[in-house]
Amino acid sequence: MLNKQRLLTPGPTPLPEDVRLAMAQDMIHHRKPEFKKIMANVQAGLQHLFGTTQPVLSLTSSGTGAMTAAVTNIVKPGDTVLVIEGGKFGERWSDIAKKHDLEMIILPVAWGSAAKVIDVLNSLDRWQEKIKGVLIQASETSTGVLHLIKEIAEITRKRDVLMVVDGISAVGISPCPMDEWGIDCLLTGSQKGLMLPPGLSFISLSERAWDQVRKVKPKNFYFDLLKERDKILDDQTLFTPAISLIVGLEQSLKHFEGDKLEQIFRKQWALTAMARTGITALGLELLAMENFTWGLTSLLIPPGIDASDIIDIMAKDYGIVAAGGQGRMKGKMIRLGHMGHIDWSDLLAGIYALRQAFVACGGHTGCKDYMEQAMNAYTQTLAEGRPV
Ligand SMILES: Cc1ncc(COP(=O)(O)O)c(C=O)c1O
Repeated sequence: MLNKQRLLTPGPTPLPEDVRLAMAQDMIHHRKPEFKKIMANVQAGLQHLFGTTQPVLSLTSSGTGAMTAAVTNIVKPGDTVLVIEGGKFGERWSDIAKKHDLEMIILPVAWGSAAKVIDVLNSLDRWQEKIKGVLIQASETSTGVLHLIKEIAEITRKRDVLMVVDGISAVGISPCPMDEWGIDCLLTGSQKGLMLPPGLSFISLSERAWDQVRKVKPKNFYFDLLKERDKILDDQTLFTPAISLIVGLEQSLKHFEGDKLEQIFRKQWALTAMARTGITALGLELLAMENFTWGLTSLLIPPGIDASDIIDIMAKDYGIVAAGGQGRMKGKMIRLGHMGHIDWSDLLAGIYALRQAFVACGGHTGCKDYMEQAMNAYTQTLAEGRPV
């Protein structure tokens, strides 16, 4: 094999060696002290990651499982929610809400933009008593947009409205401190910032969200969050968990301990600056211009060139696995992931492969020092630190 494969997708992400080795161990039993000890460590690590004193529940499912658990536990059929729909995952909130027979007020947001705080405020004012919760992404992975969670939570925390945040491509990538920002439900999946295989999801609820769950009395047998909460207080899960993934999780959480979390945010911010600088130096257009995600960069491919051809060449000739556009953006954009166990050299390889593949597909770029520009942006941004 000529090339090492580099997974520059917005999840799943590459796995650090210590995490892989931890998961290669033989099976243990999930009701025995050995597992409970692991779960206790995992709980402390997840609370630090989520920035909460509330329990963080580990569910055996992909991220959508935690989204489903949030909807089915926090609101009951007939309740009204405000859905922020600015991409494929905003649409997923709507799909889940629809299945659960919720009334929806949809706030459409142009792909590539973040929801305007004033629009959220106006929607909440207009439908006042009706709206029980806001369903939103912290990071909309399909567009590479970072929604203004802190600012929107400033509004919801003062009202009787629960702020439900899908942090699947944000937690462990960019700051999203649940308690400090006043988020009522924060959830994520294992396969992105956490550097684990897919298969686990995590969810935590504020005290007022738990009060709501007690009122709703959810009917589902799996994803019964009150029962999961009772179990986690005894360092267990309700059913047989994905034990090997939990063992890997204990290891991966060590990468976020103490101020390592802050260092990861700085690295993510610097990688974002690096990707954006390199891509614009090539003359390519970015989709998210103002509020952009720290774990992926979305770029538009000029008409006449199919983004899938570029992605194929990047993989075949350079070992770089990037992602394409989703839904209406299929063939028109590339999403270059730089989350999790990715460093500057992986991303530099990614930017180089992007340039080569773009030119091979007929694209034009006159820039010769795009790699140098990208590297300078990385080192400078790393030295400056992340925005507060
Ligand atoms: C923001 C966001 N929400 C939801 C999902 C769905 O997660 P899963 O595919 O793990 O169910 C993803 C996955 O890419 C995501 O990025």
